[in-house]
Amino acid sequence: MAQKPTLNLTDRQIAQFNEEGFLVVHGFTTPDECASVKSIYDRLFAERAGRASGNQFDLAGSDEEGKEAKLPQILGPHQYAPELTETLAWANAGALLRQIYGTDEVSFGDHAILKPARNGAPTPWHQDQAYWDAAQSYRSLSTWLPLQDTSIEMGCMWFIPGSHRGEILDHRPIGGDIRVHGLEVDPALGFDFSDAVACPLPAGSVTIHDSKTLHYAAGNNTDEPRRAWILSGGAPSSPWPGPERSFPWQALRNTAREKRARESVQGA
Ligand code: NI
Repeated sequence: MAQKPTLNLTDRQIAQFNEEGFLVVHGFTTPDECASVKSIYDRLFAERAGRASGNQFDLAGSDEEGKEAKLPQILGPHQYAPELTETLAWANAGALLRQIYGTDEVSFGDHAILKPARNGAPTPWHQDQAYWDAAQSYRSLSTWLPLQDTSIEMGCMWFIPGSHRGEILDHRPIGGDIRVHGLEVDPALGFDFSDAVACPLPAGSVTIHDSKTLHYAAGNNTDEPRRAWILSGGAPSSPWPGPERSFPWQALRNTAREKRARESVQGA
């Protein structure tokens, strides 16, 4: 049974999100629900749910079979565990989008990023829209829900305040390696990240960030895996109204994940 949402953002919270491009929201779900989602989450990663169709892959490494993943990710974990859509977090993710965008016409999906214990791989600075269609204009955000208390040392989120008001910066595959799915702001830009804000969180709290906000997470320097479940969506997109633009870094990539996705479609 789907749950009823409990979230009520204040006008002040919505104004702060619009101003800064990110927000910490406490009481999004409960520590108990985090614990029950954690067991589903661990099962999905143990089974590598979605591997064959390209939905499970290494975000930060070259993703060859038999090689330990630096940053395992699953796209759409709710497809493999439909009970995730019956959580309070799922209900509140929809409520949050309706409240932020002022419309009932919202939709969202989910993904999961596991940062193994004592794993030094950071999630480098990026903007989520760098992964998307340059011909579209988006009103969307991500709700980043860790399933345990998450400190700076464990790899909590960092944001650059106000960066959602700028353009999409030049990106490249992480480390300049075209086998890697993940993107990072091109270091050649020399962007100054020194005013970044870290957001450590207790279990049950979330950060939300606009899809243009620059964000980052450090490696996990603790003995506990950092489990993050991310609910992303928004209001419908519209054609990009500005001068024509392109995100050429997307075409550079040639990943094992895309190969698996192509092969699963072709039935090869
Ligand atoms: Ni991101």
